[in-house]
Amino acid sequence: MVKKWWHDKVAYQIYPKSFYDSNGDGIGDIPGIISKLDYLHDLGVDILWLSPCYQSPLADQGYDISDYYNIDPRFGTMADMECLIAEAKKRSMYILMDLVVNHCSDEHEWFRKACEDPEGKYGGFFYLRDKKEGVLPTNWRSYFGGPVWDDLPGTDKQYLHVFHKKQPDLNWENPELREEVYKNINWWLDKGLGGFRIDAIINIKKPQPMRSYPPDREDGLCSIGNMLQEARNVGEFLGEMRDRTFKKYDAFSVGEVFNEKPDEIPDFIGDNGYFSSMFDFNETIFGSSQKGWYDAAPITPDDYKNCCFASQAKVGDIGFLSNIIENHDEPRGVSRYIPKGDCCDESKKMLAALNFMLRGIPFIYQGQELGMENLPISSIDEVDDISTHDEYRVALAAGLSPEEALKAVSAYSRDNARSPMQWSDEPNAGFTTGTPWLKVNPNYTAINAAAQTGNEDSVYSFYRKLIALRKDPAYKETIVYGALEPLWQDRHNLMAYYRKGNPTLLVVGNYQGDEQEIVLPAAYKKVLLNNYKDIAENQERITLHGYQVLILEM
Ligand code: GLC
Ligand code: CA
Repeated sequence: MVKKWWHDKVAYQIYPKSFYDSNGDGIGDIPGIISKLDYLHDLGVDILWLSPCYQSPLADQGYDISDYYNIDPRFGTMADMECLIAEAKKRSMYILMDLVVNHCSDEHEWFRKACEDPEGKYGGFFYLRDKKEGVLPTNWRSYFGGPVWDDLPGTDKQYLHVFHKKQPDLNWENPELREEVYKNINWWLDKGLGGFRIDAIINIKKPQPMRSYPPDREDGLCSIGNMLQEARNVGEFLGEMRDRTFKKYDAFSVGEVFNEKPDEIPDFIGDNGYFSSMFDFNETIFGSSQKGWYDAAPITPDDYKNCCFASQAKVGDIGFLSNIIENHDEPRGVSRYIPKGDCCDESKKMLAALNFMLRGIPFIYQGQELGMENLPISSIDEVDDISTHDEYRVALAAGLSPEEALKAVSAYSRDNARSPMQWSDEPNAGFTTGTPWLKVNPNYTAINAAAQTGNEDSVYSFYRKLIALRKDPAYKETIVYGALEPLWQDRHNLMAYYRKGNPTLLVVGNYQGDEQEIVLPAAYKKVLLNNYKDIAENQERITLHGYQVLILEM
């Protein structure tokens, strides 16, 4: 394996709208991020991924871009962005932007021109079909509900959107469109970006010709997964994009990839893969149902362990996964992966260590380092996220009462992770002096950065120690490159694995509230991290406390 500059890094995702508001308009912004760079540097993270802050009508919170070359004024200016890149650089940090090129916004100039002249150059940038009364070109259901086809305003055509109708899909089959995309990527890389997180990229290849599949719900539509299954050769586009852009700059690229086939892993993230890394979503998709969020099955500690190990086994040393416990599309990891009623500092730290020590590149989502929890949602009117509104309708249509539907969608709502970052116990969690665009979690008086940064025993300090351990010259080689080998995989509510190397480490977490006894295969040399003050041990026999996690040098 060829060593790369990003292998030993720790990444941190910023959701700009909710990170820090510098001017009191209730919306987080780039100057706000700049003012918190020292906080991030102290934590120890190296790579900052910013969710989109390009010009956008914010129909899908910035994942609908109307100008790829401009910053949305709500987030700041291009000068702010340049300043952020420069200030990060001073601290040896890298900025990643979000590359959203499966689709743009219906307010993008390309789309407006396509409406004016569907047969012209820009019509060819989208997937357009002649409108036929009463029948859609295909019966695919968009990710956010409803058919993927809508009328192209002012014409007798329809356009394809696999996400919201304000997010028309770009036609990657068209070389002119691809040139525009590469030009934009290089333009940003020339500004000194470290690279990109690549949004929804697996959707860029549509099977040709497009066709309908058997419907799977009452609405007569079918999951978009059908077309992804059938699509072939996305690699032709991805390989071209790599060669024309990232590769020339030695830039870091991390793909939002679902549905890859096991034999495709070397193509995606091997040496000279399409991407430097891709996210592991095995845990986040566990239990999901074709019917909708209301039908999803919760994940148990054993499921969590098996999902992590399955991904690790699948990738081995072919490349690097990017490991997450949450992001802006997911509920808070501590609310999801820790059994109900057991969410506390110890269990949060255990989850942190078990995830962080996996082989791969750790990504921390803003607030995760504080142990931020799901947002209590008391009414659907409070919800901003378009996906949650759609799933609420789906749940009601399936016969759930409004209370049941709200409860079901609350568990998965994307607003859970999007509520403002909790900086302090001041009003609005110190996020803004104005009115926050989304409700602040009322638990901010207890869970906030100011209370945790000075406290050695806080969740924040535990993350800081995990990051420091990953960078410690004595352990770095093992933590970054060492093979992962599961131990006691069949033991209930216990997750343990070796990271093999010189030295070898053992990570073991008691994933339950009750004590649990283990007998180590050999005596350990040193305790590198422990979320309790003590270890109840009798030679190799250890009685782990509830949710105790240990990182041992063997
Ligand atoms: C990705 C983003 C998500 C967005 C979607 C459409 O999944 O993470 O937030 O809604 O793509 O761009
Ligand atoms: Ca602001």
